[in-house]
Amino acid sequence: MRSSTALLFDFDVIPEAKVRPVSHSSHGDVPSLLKWTGSKRSQAARIASFAPEFKRYYEPFLGGGALLYLLGTPGSVGGDIYEPLTEFWALVRDDPAHLIADYSRQWAALQKDLPGYFYIVRDRFNETHRPEDLNFLMRTCVNGIVRFSKKGDFNNSFHLSRKGMQPSRFANAVYAWAHRLKGIEFRCKDFEETVSDAQDGDFVYFDPPYAGNVQRYIGDLDVSRFCRVLDELNRRGVKWALSFDGVRGETAYDYTIPPEVYRRKELLDSGYSAVSKVLNGPVEMVTESLYLNY
Ligand SMILES: C[S@@+](CC[C@H](N)C(=O)[O-])C[C@H]1O[C@@H](n2cnc3c(N)ncnc32)[C@H](O)[C@@H]1O
Repeated sequence: MRSSTALLFDFDVIPEAKVRPVSHSSHGDVPSLLKWTGSKRSQAARIASFAPEFKRYYEPFLGGGALLYLLGTPGSVGGDIYEPLTEFWALVRDDPAHLIADYSRQWAALQKDLPGYFYIVRDRFNETHRPEDLNFLMRTCVNGIVRFSKKGDFNNSFHLSRKGMQPSRFANAVYAWAHRLKGIEFRCKDFEETVSDAQDGDFVYFDPPYAGNVQRYIGDLDVSRFCRVLDELNRRGVKWALSFDGVRGETAYDYTIPPEVYRRKELLDSGYSAVSKVLNGPVEMVTESLYLNY
């Protein structure tokens, strides 16, 4: 764990006392911190309303963690295969002041060198994978959405008209999240390993990547292995909910979840596709299914 006294940069820290408190109602909004592709932020409260009582909560495809914000309690587990992301979340939990100071310093450097500084950080991130740099890129890239090349490099460009999120606004979101993440464990693991110690009475929310969307994620999904894991959780008495398939505009992303694996399927309207907007494609309605084993 990094100490806030050992800052990389000697920029002033915005103290928690100076930021506006954010409500933590389990039905309220999830403050926007990391806009990951496939984010469930706008539907998080709806999905959370299907959650059963549980002992321990698991979110093994964490991304931007919208559900973790609403459902996480001390002892919960968030997992993702992408290490800079799980390191970022651990930093929010353990040292929010460091993250805010780092962003404030980098944001100031950006204002003096627009957009050159963005590309310096992007090259550095693709070499070193520092979570602080991932954070800076996410705050300043086009529409704040992560995008990778086939090689796995971050390749989204600078959002020219925006100049990056104001540090005070960022500080506000970081402290709200830091409160929610106390006592939560982060694992940089494949989903199967993350849920391997889930037991009777625990609850898992799965939000795997769309198979058609591989270039926007690190890692691909083998659907038959995934279904074997669901089946194994059924045997162990672990409850789970799964966001999957759906229809985007004219395109159906209907991958088969065998009916014997789940009990119920709810159709949720998830609004318009953020990815289509980023790619300047047509804005399309997206419908998603929520599969439940209870
Ligand atoms: C659809 S996103 C999750 C979005 C998240 N629910 C949110 O609201 O932001 C899927 C995530 O799964 C991760 N992932 C992909 N393959 C994985 C695997 N085999 N095991 C664990 N995580 C994986 C990706 O890095 C990505 O962060």
